[in-house]
Amino acid sequence: MNQNAKMNTSKITPYVFASWILAAFGGLMFGYDIGISGGVTGMDDFLIKFFPRIYERKLHAAENNYCKYDDQMLQLFTSSLYLAALVSSFFASKACNVLGRKPTILMASTFFMAGAALSAAAQVGWMLILGRILFGVGVGFGNEAVPLFLTEIAPVHLRGAVNILFQLAVTIGIFIANLVNYGTSTMHPNGWRFSLGGAAVPAVVLFAGSLIITESPASLVERKREEEGKAALKKIRGVDEVDAEFEEILSACEIASKIKQPFKKLMKKQSLPPLVIAVALQVFQQFTGINAIMFYAPVLFQTLGFKSDASLLSSVITGLVNVGSTFVAIFLVDKVGRRKLLLQACCQMLISQVTIGVILHLKLSETGSLDKGLAAVVVVMVCTFVMSFAWSWGPLGWLIPSETFPLETRTAGFAFAVSSNMLFTFVIAQMFLSMMCHMKAYIFFFFSAWIVVMGLFVIVLLPETKGIPIDSMVERVWKKHPVWKNCFDDDDSKEYEMA
Ligand code: BGC
Repeated sequence: MNQNAKMNTSKITPYVFASWILAAFGGLMFGYDIGISGGVTGMDDFLIKFFPRIYERKLHAAENNYCKYDDQMLQLFTSSLYLAALVSSFFASKACNVLGRKPTILMASTFFMAGAALSAAAQVGWMLILGRILFGVGVGFGNEAVPLFLTEIAPVHLRGAVNILFQLAVTIGIFIANLVNYGTSTMHPNGWRFSLGGAAVPAVVLFAGSLIITESPASLVERKREEEGKAALKKIRGVDEVDAEFEEILSACEIASKIKQPFKKLMKKQSLPPLVIAVALQVFQQFTGINAIMFYAPVLFQTLGFKSDASLLSSVITGLVNVGSTFVAIFLVDKVGRRKLLLQACCQMLISQVTIGVILHLKLSETGSLDKGLAAVVVVMVCTFVMSFAWSWGPLGWLIPSETFPLETRTAGFAFAVSSNMLFTFVIAQMFLSMMCHMKAYIFFFFSAWIVVMGLFVIVLLPETKGIPIDSMVERVWKKHPVWKNCFDDDDSKEYEMA
């Protein structure tokens, strides 16, 4: 039996299962935050307390549909989280290496609990923003450590599916947040406090869980605690015969420790294909406009003339579509492949965005409101848009970067993916409402144009990676690709190996 076959027999032990569930709370924490702020910013009690000017403007909404929520501070409330996450993810990657995954997860949940407490108790604007920043640091730490921990303890043959489970947890978190907002919107005047404070629930579970989980074997070995690493592996796998897998971990750590400057190596020509793809997928993922919907759906629906509760209900529906369609990705990703899913989604997202743009352009004037039938068409188009994103660019934006970097640049490369995500999520969160005010319906044509660009990118520059072992990527994928093969002329490859 070869090594891979041996490793494939490793079972999903109750211990691994429990760790996954627990770590899923890391995804829930992130998702909850994505989903909660939009609903809160649409609540009158919240606006009256912190943003009275916007509340005034909203009362006179007839004056301008597209601009009633355009306010830098209001957008900062949503976006500050991502800026904090961006900065803290670099510290988190250091903490992951030096302290281990377990303490990093513990820190994430602590920041999160502090953020929830401060936001729920907020009396003035700075408390609110500081609460968001603490949430953001929690997201930065959690998003770095949790997916890494999840994949490291997963049996080898399940790594891809486990990776998408994290995304599934994120979508469930968004959906729960939509539901909570729907429930708290009628609890006057403090409903928003429950919404923001509710983030403490997954954080407390994650905190308690991180006290009992075992550190990942790879992290222990990386920190020269090999005996403990082997014991942890036996416990996780539920068998004593773990030599083959342990050898793999040892040699992987040995190779990785020889690379003193992974970031420098990442800048070499041969690292370009996975690096360009990882960053591009993240930038494109955000320029689909997905977070304009995830953050601001309730606000967007109010712009269309929906009442507050109808808007929140519509976002519950989009949240549900998001969760359901992520299952489609789990089942299809290894059957039909990455490229087909991405390209199919480009077509579906393009049709949805253009339809929304045309309807708003022709029928939603600055002062009127949309008639019921057309508003329903817009909601359906938002759903078809979210649906296709959720079975393609959403999970694959994370999966592809995690399976295309060679081991020696994997964490450094993935850190680029995480920070590009946070940076562009920040940009969208900070700019969408202002862009909508200035561009009006054209904002949807702006996203449509990006969807065309990303489709072309997939056609020209993204090779299929379905079923290719990570270690064979260079030989079987990059060196055969008409464009990327130019990064691997023979002399360069030698230089790369020696670096
Ligand atoms: C994206 C998030 C987005 C979420 C929606 C993720 O893949 O990175 O920005 O909010 O999908 O489900």
